[in-house]
Amino acid sequence: MLRRPRRNRSNFAIRELVSEVDVTANDLIAPLFVIDGQNKKVEVHSMPGQFRFSIDLLLEEVKTLSELGVKAVAIFPAIDEELKTSCAKESFNEDNLNCKAIRAIKEKFPHMLVMADVAMDPYSSDGHDGVVKDGKILNDETLDVLAKMSIASAKAGADIVGPSDMMDGRIAYIRSALDSSGFKNVSIMSYTAKYASAFYGPFRDALDSAPKAGDKKTYQMDFRNSSEAMLELDLDTQEGADIVMVKPALSYMDIITKFKQNTTLPVAAYNVSGEYAMVMAAAKAGYVDRQSIMIEMLTSFKRAGADIILTYFAKDMATYLKNN
Ligand code: PBG
Repeated sequence: MLRRPRRNRSNFAIRELVSEVDVTANDLIAPLFVIDGQNKKVEVHSMPGQFRFSIDLLLEEVKTLSELGVKAVAIFPAIDEELKTSCAKESFNEDNLNCKAIRAIKEKFPHMLVMADVAMDPYSSDGHDGVVKDGKILNDETLDVLAKMSIASAKAGADIVGPSDMMDGRIAYIRSALDSSGFKNVSIMSYTAKYASAFYGPFRDALDSAPKAGDKKTYQMDFRNSSEAMLELDLDTQEGADIVMVKPALSYMDIITKFKQNTTLPVAAYNVSGEYAMVMAAAKAGYVDRQSIMIEMLTSFKRAGADIILTYFAKDMATYLKNN
């Protein structure tokens, strides 16, 4: 046999030498849930090991992440029910929980990149990412709210805004709003191909943000489609996105690869709450080994073409990387 592929697998050193991708702490963004109050750390029931932190304890978590080499976090505030309205006006209150958390992190850890999620759902009494009228999600009316939210987060010190709403035209609208408010250097990581997915279930538990009526299928993408993801990629590229994201990650590796092959922009993958919950539940039952699955899963995202991975495993993975 002229070709014996097993030669390149025959020992640890040769495997390391020929390996094509590796995950490093530099690739990771840690999503963090924030709640109001003091000294609070409440576990998310469906996401063992993930907590809603009050800002004081959030800072300790960010410190740990920073010491582990994680360079970016994404903030997700859980808003009190009384503050939710149909137009989500709390979302652009410059003193809201989101802005307070961003300010606190940037003050103590100026080098930590902070990404602010931009979507109405955590602040919306309808639990939708857009303005709802007569059961319909209004696109253009929503853009204004998203722009105001982006500016509030940028003022608080966010380095990156992440529109996760899937309204049409949002990237251009937000880019222009940021630029005209003096935030030319704030980046946009667009949730470019965000699918209407059951994998978001545990996240909606964490924030109590599930839609009160209907579903998100008129704005988030149909999971049967991939050409449509390329249309979204074209639009976000033209509209000025700095980084393009595919979400969820695990069932959408084909989309990650297509993005990587069709753009010069960095590609991010969001390893979402349901993906985390499945691994944790199976590990708890003793069916799989948590750490091995984590490493294999995150490495597969890189192999598929992701440059950046948003994952609830960020701390766990960075801890593993530091010790190995
Ligand atoms: C809000 C938002 C969601 C997620 C991130 N931003 C939920 C949704 O769109 O319903 C999901 C994250 C996860 O499941 O980990 N628009």
